[in-house]
Amino acid sequence: MKIGVVGAGYVGLVAGTCLSEMGNSVIIADLNEEVIGTLLGGEVHYYEPGLKPLLQSNIQKGRLSFTTDTAMMVRESKVIFLAVGTPQREDGSANLSYLESASVDVACAMNGPKTIIIKSTVPVGTNKRIGELIAGHTSHEVRIVSNPEFLKEGAAVDDFMGPDRVIVGVRDEASEQTMRSIYDPFMRTSDRLMVMDPESAEMTKYASNAMLACRISFMNEMAKICAEVGADVADVRKGVGSDNRIGSKFLFPGLGYGGSCFPKDVRALAHLAEGVGVEPRILRAVDDVNNLQRYLFLPRVYNEFGENLTGRSFAVWGLAFKPRTDDVREAPALDVIRELVKRGAEVKAYDPEAGSSAGAALKLLGVTEGVEIVAEPYLATEGAEALFICTEWTEFRSPDYDALRDSMSRRIIFDGRNLYEPESIKAEGFTYHCVGRPTVTPD
Ligand SMILES: NC(=O)c1ccc[n+]([C@@H]2O[C@H](COP(=O)([O-])OP(=O)(O)OC[C@H]3O[C@@H](n4cnc5c(N)ncnc54)[C@H](O)[C@@H]3O)[C@@H](O)[C@H]2O)c1
Repeated sequence: MKIGVVGAGYVGLVAGTCLSEMGNSVIIADLNEEVIGTLLGGEVHYYEPGLKPLLQSNIQKGRLSFTTDTAMMVRESKVIFLAVGTPQREDGSANLSYLESASVDVACAMNGPKTIIIKSTVPVGTNKRIGELIAGHTSHEVRIVSNPEFLKEGAAVDDFMGPDRVIVGVRDEASEQTMRSIYDPFMRTSDRLMVMDPESAEMTKYASNAMLACRISFMNEMAKICAEVGADVADVRKGVGSDNRIGSKFLFPGLGYGGSCFPKDVRALAHLAEGVGVEPRILRAVDDVNNLQRYLFLPRVYNEFGENLTGRSFAVWGLAFKPRTDDVREAPALDVIRELVKRGAEVKAYDPEAGSSAGAALKLLGVTEGVEIVAEPYLATEGAEALFICTEWTEFRSPDYDALRDSMSRRIIFDGRNLYEPESIKAEGFTYHCVGRPTVTPD
């Protein structure tokens, strides 16, 4: 099938590349000339495991191409995925201006009947609105399908190639058939395509993200209670998660969730709820708990070092909002660094992949001095009085304790991802603070 994609970001590029891998002929259009230039050179402008080789092999086979010319892409394609960003507006609602503008671009270039598939995460009612918008700019027949994406950054290729389910919101039989022919190749073992109306498809995406965010905030609240009553959240988590009505995933306490999806989607759903007269008490609580969680260690830091951190030197490991990505959108590490620097500290930070995106994001947050992004973990800890762990990259799980002891000026770890067993860290000679477990100090 001839498929077009608008948006070469974390979703559009993965979707387009995986669709070309199945034999489709795919053109991905993006307004960003630098991004398209990078892709045309066979490189990927962000870090996503497994994406680059797949992209290169499909470019080579002539099935995958890139352009800034959306109109050309539209003329060449039978179906068009819209995968542009839907960021948060100040009032918490989803900003649909990119989607609307992409839809108008597509509508104006139509040269025959098309199926337009909304992949971006959008509020309920957007399918209908976009349908009306497009109909106002073309006389060609157009079907609008909602097909929210559930891939996880860091495992995006595997998720797209073997999805748990594919949600498809359609209003007619022909659209369902089109979606089946696109997705059948991804579901040879079992049919996981779920067909519903577009409004339910739109809502399914928000409800899924809200549920996952809710589990994280719930466990973070449990961790706080554990810390006060002398319980160990690591044991509690295992005990709770082993109930198969509950399950063990997304129950890790930590510095809270970040990224380009959970924070904005929880708020957009809350905004949507308020707009229809439903008070989103749970959603607000999930967001509130999460917003505070990233500052969890600060009172302990002030207790140890005082509120004025001038002259103090700290290390941060992990800048991405989660491992296996270089995405730092709403990453807790950025707020931790901003707070430390604001109080006068010097921070050296390391991330296996997100160093440059974090550097750029910190500048946008106004953090231009007091932080240095370094290329090695033990360069970050050189002279540091404490180490903060903000992302659970696997390479942090078994650190070189000799290198840590040698490089740090004091041996204090604030572990925001509960990577270590407190007693073993204590035996290595470190004071160890983590989430929902007792702090330990060497004897
Ligand atoms: N990132 C994720 O893990 C993820 C997962 C599931 C769903 N989503 C949703 O998918 C959507 C896209 O997210 P993303 O992370 O891929 O965004 P992104 O910011 O990485 O990419 C969006 C791309 O669209 C391009 N773009 C914007 N307007 C355009 C236009 N008119 N024409 C052509 N290109 C245009 C931008 O230049 C950018 O490259 C969002 O709604 C998001 O909520 C994201």
